[in-house]
Amino acid sequence: MSSPYLPLEAEVLERIEESPTIFTLRLRLTDPDANAAYRFSPGQFNMLSLYGVGEVPISIVSDPEDEKLFDHTVRAIGRVTKGLARLRAGDRLGIRGPYGRGWPLAEAQGQDIAIITGGLGCAPTVAAINYVLRRRARYGRLTVIQGVKHSDDLLWRQRYRAWAQEAKTQVLIAADQAGPAWPWHVGAVTELFAQAEIDASRTLAMLCGPEGLMRAGARHLRGRGVAPESIWLSMERNMHCAIGHCGHCQLGPMFVCKDGPVFRYADIGPYLDVRGL
Ligand SMILES: Cc1cc2nc3c(=O)[nH]c(=O)nc-3n(C[C@H](O)[C@H](O)[C@H](O)COP(=O)(O)OP(=O)(O)OC[C@H]3O[C@@H](n4cnc5c(N)ncnc54)[C@H](O)[C@@H]3O)c2cc1C
Ligand code: FES
Repeated sequence: MSSPYLPLEAEVLERIEESPTIFTLRLRLTDPDANAAYRFSPGQFNMLSLYGVGEVPISIVSDPEDEKLFDHTVRAIGRVTKGLARLRAGDRLGIRGPYGRGWPLAEAQGQDIAIITGGLGCAPTVAAINYVLRRRARYGRLTVIQGVKHSDDLLWRQRYRAWAQEAKTQVLIAADQAGPAWPWHVGAVTELFAQAEIDASRTLAMLCGPEGLMRAGARHLRGRGVAPESIWLSMERNMHCAIGHCGHCQLGPMFVCKDGPVFRYADIGPYLDVRGL
């Protein structure tokens, strides 16, 4: 039996420069059978590895029904992510996954969806947004709220513009600081929460980004009457094994790699922003 730590080989089909520090790698497993068998859900992640450098968890941003390619959008911040940034089309890397529990898209059917994200926290929700828009009749209203520190940090402007044109869809974007010709709000993203057209009795919320933002978003939603069981958060913790063995990603009694990264607020709320966890 092969080791669960053994990565499969993937090839970079395309590298898309999203900003000076953020890029997307479009990948395919080099073994055609493994590639054909590969399945994931929006919100799950892969462990991407570079031989001799290391391994990091990165969310999958593409639609699960896309033509057997999968995209990872990465911010180059350290050893491994800066190594990934140097990859070009044709280069190879290792992949383990998909891992973790993704967004509750089956449970969300028939409900309105509110998505609140900050910075690169938008990445794990992109697959969920595309999933909902491609199956529009199954879901109610979709509200997307995204905040960035500076307007230059906003990725996928065209996608946000296109989503805003969709039926039953509201898009609210804020930048703490903005350059000229920024069409959206200037200020804290929390200032937009009150504009969200949310019917608390039928809303399921998905939050991802800095924990302070998720906590503020969850509090706002609770204040409007959204049940804690209907608020879901995607958590980030340092990871090693990604399969619930090593304890690196432990959060209270839970492991982010196995029990998450997507958790119900009802379960994870007490552990948000607790130092040392
Ligand atoms: C479930 C999950 C999904 C993720 N999805 C994505 C994604 O889609 N795109 C993406 O770019 N990143 C994502 N991350 C974060 C990514 O895994 C880290 O940025 C990466 O592990 C950093 O590794 P490194 O070797 O490049 O940096 P290191 O050399 O390990 O660290 C460089 C510096 O960054 C800090 N750092 C390390 N990890 C994080 C972190 N998670 N958050 C903030 N600071 C950190 C370190 O403390 C250090 O100061 C995800 C993490 C998790 C747990
Ligand atoms: S990374 Fe090892 S238990 Fe989660």
